[in-house]
Amino acid sequence: MVEEITKEFTHGLPKAELHVHIEGTLEPELKLKLAKRNHVNIGQSTIEEVKETLKFNNLASFLDVYYEAMNVLQTEQDFYDLAMDYLHRAAKNNVRHVEIFFDPQAHTSRGVAFADVINGLYRATVDARALNVDARLIMCFLRDFSRDSARETLEEALKYKDKILGVGLDSDEHNNPPMKFYNQFCKATEEGFHITAHADPDQPRSIEHIRDLLEVIGVERVDHGTNIVEDPDLVDYAVKNEIGLTSCTLSNNFLNADMKGKEVIELLGKGVKISIHSDDPAYFGGYIGDNYYTIATKFDLTRDQVIKLVKNSFESSWISDEQKALYLKEVDEYVAKH
Ligand code: HPA
Ligand code: ZN
Repeated sequence: MVEEITKEFTHGLPKAELHVHIEGTLEPELKLKLAKRNHVNIGQSTIEEVKETLKFNNLASFLDVYYEAMNVLQTEQDFYDLAMDYLHRAAKNNVRHVEIFFDPQAHTSRGVAFADVINGLYRATVDARALNVDARLIMCFLRDFSRDSARETLEEALKYKDKILGVGLDSDEHNNPPMKFYNQFCKATEEGFHITAHADPDQPRSIEHIRDLLEVIGVERVDHGTNIVEDPDLVDYAVKNEIGLTSCTLSNNFLNADMKGKEVIELLGKGVKISIHSDDPAYFGGYIGDNYYTIATKFDLTRDQVIKLVKNSFESSWISDEQKALYLKEVDEYVAKH
């Protein structure tokens, strides 16, 4: 019998969200509200006009639209509202634990204080406890900014060490290899931060970047990273070292006209800790439940494969073994009931 995976099933599954950019959760409604509140002329005044701006077909053209939209984020309260808006959606998707990316340089470079960014976001993570969502923050370096800028950003972050769980790397990968930030990743590790980094799908030198991330820098997870299938030796390394890969169905679909579904199935079958996430849900058409539902239905995943993916999300999260065991038990209980 073919098991039908329903939206109700994927949305209700307890899950860990490990790859969501808070700036990528800025919905058109909130964008317009903040533009008005802060008197920022964004050139759009209706939801339809904002949606018209969502035109891109590769990483660079997406990033242009994405950074432009951030101009509406000005005050600590704006960052709080942005994160709270997202966390309500996360709760509806039964996200039990989330490690949220944020890009301080996208804001400090516009004159917004680092303190306003981190304090607004952090306050929302505290209030999310009332929604039954355990939320943490991962600070990303923008890889198209200089090494110096990354160094200054990490120095600033040290003042807020208790509010930041890890350090990541995002933005335009072309000509910005991970080794550009080798020193800052070493320093972040010494300071006790977890580390992860993007290896976007099908970039020039994808495999070289993934190899440096795993074998030299020593990241614990790779964001996207599905090009690893091209190198069986690196796949073995990822399995042995329990490296988490965070694949994002809907953003893959948008930017690469394929969802990396075959790669996800292959890596899952080989025992890689791969899981499904939402990346920039306000831009790519869906939150985490939709990302699971889409890959499950388009690639005929079995229930067991979907369950394995969500279990991987908890297993590759940065929480204690005791907490992992509790969440995994919740997954088993949910599955037994559905
Ligand atoms: N890749 C790189 N940078 C990003 C992304 C992404 O998917 N989303 C937001 N910034
Ligand atoms: Zn991303």
